[in-house]
Amino acid sequence: MQHVEVPVRVPKENEVLIRTEAISLNPMDWRIQKGVTRPVLPRKFPHIPATDVAGEIVEVGTEVKNFKPGDKVVAVISHFVGGGLAEFAIAKESLTVARPHEVSAREAAGLPLAGLTAHQALTGPAGVKLDGRTDGHPINILVTAASGGVGHYAVQLAKLGNTHVTATCGARNLDFVKSLGADEVLDYKTPDGVALRSPSGKKYDAVIHCAMNRIPCIPWSTFEPNLSDNGMVIHLSPGPRAMWTFALNKLTCSRKQLVPMFMSSKGENLEFLVRLVKEGKLKTVIDSVHPLSRAEDGWAKSLDGHATGKIIIEP
Ligand SMILES: NC(=O)c1ccc[n+]([C@@H]2O[C@H](COP(=O)([O-])OP(=O)(O)OC[C@H]3O[C@@H](n4cnc5c(N)ncnc54)[C@H](OP(=O)(O)O)[C@@H]3O)[C@@H](O)[C@H]2O)c1
Repeated sequence: MQHVEVPVRVPKENEVLIRTEAISLNPMDWRIQKGVTRPVLPRKFPHIPATDVAGEIVEVGTEVKNFKPGDKVVAVISHFVGGGLAEFAIAKESLTVARPHEVSAREAAGLPLAGLTAHQALTGPAGVKLDGRTDGHPINILVTAASGGVGHYAVQLAKLGNTHVTATCGARNLDFVKSLGADEVLDYKTPDGVALRSPSGKKYDAVIHCAMNRIPCIPWSTFEPNLSDNGMVIHLSPGPRAMWTFALNKLTCSRKQLVPMFMSSKGENLEFLVRLVKEGKLKTVIDSVHPLSRAEDGWAKSLDGHATGKIIIEP
């Protein structure tokens, strides 16, 4: 990674130019750097990483209706474009939302990729209603890596949905994950944690599988006996093994499913998450804050894979 000076781009008709106040990092940022997504990403060099920005609008495109210079916002930028890890970033109007003064730039910057992924996994395949309606059926959820960026939002959102939440994390984070609302917490290095066994014997209707696909990854044979009859694993980092399980389960019409999920950003969902933070119903837990001039320190922390909550960079 190098610090470079590049010209600030003029926003196109449906874009806004944001002076960034806080940026959050995600594992996808360094996966792109490692070349995992080649030849699709990055599209061109130099590639400026990061997609999650909060800041103030300084210029708007000719077709922009909802924002003006001076507005405080949070935005999610496509991985295809990137550009977040900078003093100025361009975002689409449709993926930019207003940030009320009650929500700090740091709290807002944590939300986009991690918060939207947790929201989509729960409200999409897992079928959780975040207003707490359960339609008479209490849903049991397992969140793996509940101390991480996605996981810590997933636990909080799942509790807003009135579900029973079991969560896995490292020993040092057991109290932290309980404080997010998890009903049962498993240390992922103990035998019960390795087996993903709920302390109360509950079977999971949905697993929000946030743990990274690092070796050794958690195999289907560990998930399967812990699932309810129609239970599913929503896999956020599906590798070839997970894709094979997905295909095999479909072919054999298995009632238990592995669902590979890739987040698709929606402005209205980001707006919903910002509102929850404003109302005190959701919080962004900040692992560490690094100045942009030392962005490589935050980058190394993310690469290490042991963040508790979100890593924030500030210009
Ligand atoms: N599909 C999508 O659209 C999508 C979107 C966003 C993210 N993702 C993926 O989701 C994964 C998680 O992202 P993230 O931002 O939450 O990562 P993260 O914040 O870097 O996750 C770090 C946390 O994971 C914990 N952890 C690591 N291995 C664990 C295990 N086996 N069991 C329990 N906890 C474990 C670590 O705890 P310790 O320090 O105690 O080890 C640490 O607190 C990444 O692979 C990311 O690429 C996918």
